[in-house]
Amino acid sequence: MPEESKVVIVTGASQGLGEGIARGFLARGWRVVATSRRIEPSDDPNLLALRGDIAEPETGRRLVEAAMDRFGRLDTLVNNAGVFIGGAFTDHTPDQYRTLVATNLDGFFHATQPAVEAMERQGRGGHVVQISTTLAEQANSAFPCVLAAMTKGGLNAATRSLAIEYAGRNIRANAVSPGVIDTPMHAPETHAALARTHPLGRIGQVADVVRAVLYLEDSPFVTGEILHVDGGWSAGG
Ligand SMILES: NC(=O)c1ccc[n+]([C@@H]2O[C@H](COP(=O)([O-])OP(=O)(O)OC[C@H]3O[C@@H](n4cnc5c(N)ncnc54)[C@H](OP(=O)(O)O)[C@@H]3O)[C@@H](O)[C@H]2O)c1
Repeated sequence: MPEESKVVIVTGASQGLGEGIARGFLARGWRVVATSRRIEPSDDPNLLALRGDIAEPETGRRLVEAAMDRFGRLDTLVNNAGVFIGGAFTDHTPDQYRTLVATNLDGFFHATQPAVEAMERQGRGGHVVQISTTLAEQANSAFPCVLAAMTKGGLNAATRSLAIEYAGRNIRANAVSPGVIDTPMHAPETHAALARTHPLGRIGQVADVVRAVLYLEDSPFVTGEILHVDGGWSAGG
């Protein structure tokens, strides 16, 4: 089957990394189901934009059904939708806790389960990619974020477990672990200070992460990998 006929679901695709990842796959001739709560409809026949809250159980199933109905197959799921709420541990509110867990972890579960089921039914393998953060493994005193680290650390653990459970069926699971990336998540006036926290002396660009996701897509012998795209954060400070 030629690559141009493949199909990817990208969550959190209205802006930032998700939008860039969706465009990266489209540029390669893939067909894309892009989703978020506020995403705009698309006229591009290769791009199906669907609104939904990824934390809701029915959203993931609806996305997979839409991929099958519109494009007839599903090859890759990119679990990118996520929130980052930092701050002192004792200042976190129950609402912040629920938002982080619902978006970052419930969203992963509800999207990934039907996607893997569809990949198994197809019987030609598949790929699931999480967007994590290096702060899950490498705590940094400049960015207190126990709850965000807990949820993204959960995604890293799930990535490895999924990789092992499904390796025999050629369904791969990988994660990209960014440092700070220039997206609407970070106000421009914070960029200079954020840049100084990275050994490479800059924050990353969306293209840095898109390249990593496409590398993982192109690498059939790579599974269970947490690929750091973090300007050196994971190496040390
Ligand atoms: N930028 C960074 O420095 C950085 C670093 C490490 C990791 N990450 C991770 O990378 C991912 C993307 O980050 P980003 O910087 O592109 O963030 P962003 O600009 O804030 O975009 C987040 C995306 O997720 C969607 N989203 C949020 N909550 C959602 C929900 N409940 N249901 C469906 N969609 C939802 C948003 O769309 P709607 O508002 O339309 O729903 C938006 O498209 C996140 O998982 C983030 O944790 C980012």
